Amino acid sequence: MDRKRELRTEILKTRSALGPAEVARASAAVTRRVLDLPAFRESRALLAYVDVRNEVRTGALIRAALAGGKRVAVPVTDRERRELTPALIGIYPEGLTPGAYGIPEPRNYEEIPLGELDCILIPGVAYDYQGYRLGFGGGYYDRFLPRVRHHAVLIGLAYDFQVCRTVYPEPHDQPVHFVVTERRILCLATGAPGWKGGWRRGGKMG
Ligand SMILES: Nc1ncnc2c1ncn2[C@@H]1O[C@H](COP(=O)(O)OP(=O)(O)O)[C@@H](O)[C@H]1O
Ligand SMILES: [Mg+2]
Repeated sequence: MDRKRELRTEILKTRSALGPAEVARASAAVTRRVLDLPAFRESRALLAYVDVRNEVRTGALIRAALAGGKRVAVPVTDRERRELTPALIGIYPEGLTPGAYGIPEPRNYEEIPLGELDCILIPGVAYDYQGYRLGFGGGYYDRFLPRVRHHAVLIGLAYDFQVCRTVYPEPHDQPVHFVVTERRILCLATGAPGWKGGWRRGGKMG
């Protein structure tokens, strides 16, 4: 869809112009907010993307999860089958080498059963106020997420400028429960601990 493609190009242009200091500062703020989310804190088996090309960094969250005794997996991308596989890791970033799209992934790994995952940190090019997500156009997460257990909490990480009025969702697009930016948390999971609906500014969830 043309509108999706235009939005993708525009936001990626802004994101690629960020300097390392800005990426680090915003990522630290997103990290603090995620560490405060009960959905993250109480999770036992986490799937977290490995950031590339100025995506919100996930390294600190992955290390915190490992240090806290969670089972932690990162996605391994199969380009031919357009499929993601959650691969267990024990340390980070050691042992990861660039795979499909240059995204670091483990070479030899044990697959974590999909039913075990209870928290998923999802990258995105853009998110809208309904929690719909614009990705790179491969539909990887749209295909992966319906296979995950329904109790898994889906958390999109983004810079504030990546949040848009709409990302022109199509029927196959999978929304997330939370969008966390350096400035705010969008909570779409009715009934989740601390839920008040809409954006929370400054405050902590839960
Ligand atoms: N569950 C699915 N089964 C089959 N194809 C899918 C599924 N989800 C998405 N796709 C396909 O993947 C492609 C990319 O999806 P799109 O939502 O545009 O990308 P992205 O979410 O990465 O921005 C689309 O052509 C779409 O039809
Ligand atoms: Mg999609």
